[in-house]
Amino acid sequence: MSSKLSTFICQNCGSETSQYFGRCLNCNSWNSIVEEIKSKRSNYQEIKNCKKSIPFNEISSKKISRFTSGFREFDRVLGGGIVPGSVVLLGGEPGIGKSTLVLQSAGKISLNEKVLYITAEESLEQVKIRWERLNQSSINLKIFAETNLSLIIKEIKRLNPSFAIIDSIQAIHNHEMQSSPGSVSQVRACSSELQNLAKDNNIALLIIGHVTKDGALAGPKTLEHLVDTVINFEGDNISSHRLLRSIKNRFGSTFEIGIFEMLEEGLREIKNPSSIFTNKENISGVTTTITNEGTRPLAVDIQALVNKTFYSNPRRTTTGISINRLHQILAVIEKHVGIKLSEFDCYIATGGGFEINDPSSDLSVAISILSSLKNIPPLASCSFIGELGLSGQVRKSNNLRTKIEEAIRLGIKNIVVPKLEDELNNNFQNLIKIKEISNIKEAVDYSLSV
Ligand SMILES: Nc1ncnc2c1ncn2[C@@H]1O[C@H](COP(=O)(O)OP(=O)(O)OP(=O)(O)O)[C@@H](O)[C@H]1O
Ligand SMILES: [Mg+2]
Ligand SMILES: [Zn+2]
Repeated sequence: MSSKLSTFICQNCGSETSQYFGRCLNCNSWNSIVEEIKSKRSNYQEIKNCKKSIPFNEISSKKISRFTSGFREFDRVLGGGIVPGSVVLLGGEPGIGKSTLVLQSAGKISLNEKVLYITAEESLEQVKIRWERLNQSSINLKIFAETNLSLIIKEIKRLNPSFAIIDSIQAIHNHEMQSSPGSVSQVRACSSELQNLAKDNNIALLIIGHVTKDGALAGPKTLEHLVDTVINFEGDNISSHRLLRSIKNRFGSTFEIGIFEMLEEGLREIKNPSSIFTNKENISGVTTTITNEGTRPLAVDIQALVNKTFYSNPRRTTTGISINRLHQILAVIEKHVGIKLSEFDCYIATGGGFEINDPSSDLSVAISILSSLKNIPPLASCSFIGELGLSGQVRKSNNLRTKIEEAIRLGIKNIVVPKLEDELNNNFQNLIKIKEISNIKEAVDYSLSV
């Protein structure tokens, strides 16, 4: 049945083989391989082949001039605003609020720039209903409901906007290909044509892509290398907070985050994010750390619950930090503080479930565990910063200065940190009480004595 032109593509990871397998050899997922017919070369590609190479010094080096997305938090994640001619992939689980974010943003941008919003999933009426709920008003925003790639390209060329949005890449299709919309080869082919169009006409393009919880049918995964910037929109169904996180950015730093709240009338920026992840209560088992996400310091509570176990193997679970980190911290406490924890269950949760990747939160986790175990509240109004080494030492943390500054801004009175350089210490003398420590034992003696 398979002709010369067909190929077998894993819909999960995008790897290609010339033969069918029940299980992908690359990512090991079952039944994810689908036969797809290779496309002929696109019209657009053909026309472009008349380009020539030029000497390096003839390339004009304009400074990047960005325009704002209308949201400070969104701009921050993009590296300072939208770059003309750049392609941004906005991923996220279904229903997280991607369309809401881009529609609000499009409305704001269209006050100054020409904007085209292409809705391939929802009808014009559906978009209009959302538009009215979001209380937007702009007469310049153009909406186009279409799923056919050639017609979309034609309309973009006709209108020549500064900013165009595709909602979503899984819903559009190239007629020259036989595979169904959303399949890896469709997603790839459509994106690369749109990418060429954007680059050649200096149009900033934002492509929305769905990502399911288990990463299955993750068309967008296969696009990540193709686009300039990859942003994820995250959150859970329980809380109304939403995080925008940059995963890749050719025009700014990665792991930058933007924080929003989802309200009836749409997304609102959170101006003081530290306030939503901390509680400022002085109770046993809770401490505050200051982590670094991208270029921004952020205060987050670490809560621990340590209980005598009823199981043969004690329970250890975490929300917001990795379970391996917890195991390592527990081992360091056993060895270097001399407390046996094998009879205790241990649960860790960060404030709001915020995912912390910065290892300097270790010390805060350790003090929370010991505070819960001993049932003693930690030193009042105190933050903890420091990565725990395997030999119990507290190691240096990145960006300590900005973290201390954030603590001061939040009115925190004490801070426990790794040994500082003199110059840093002098800067903050009267603003906050800084306790420098070199190992975990010192931190415990300082903050958990009755
Ligand atoms: N009337 C409403 N009041 C408050 N919040 C609403 C209302 N309608 C929708 N929402 C919020 O908007 C979310 C859906 O937003 P949106 O359609 O922008 O998400 P999406 O990521 O584009 O979804 P999809 O994957 O279906 O395209 C809902 O999960 C809900 O949180
Ligand atoms: Mg949507
Ligand atoms: Zn695979």
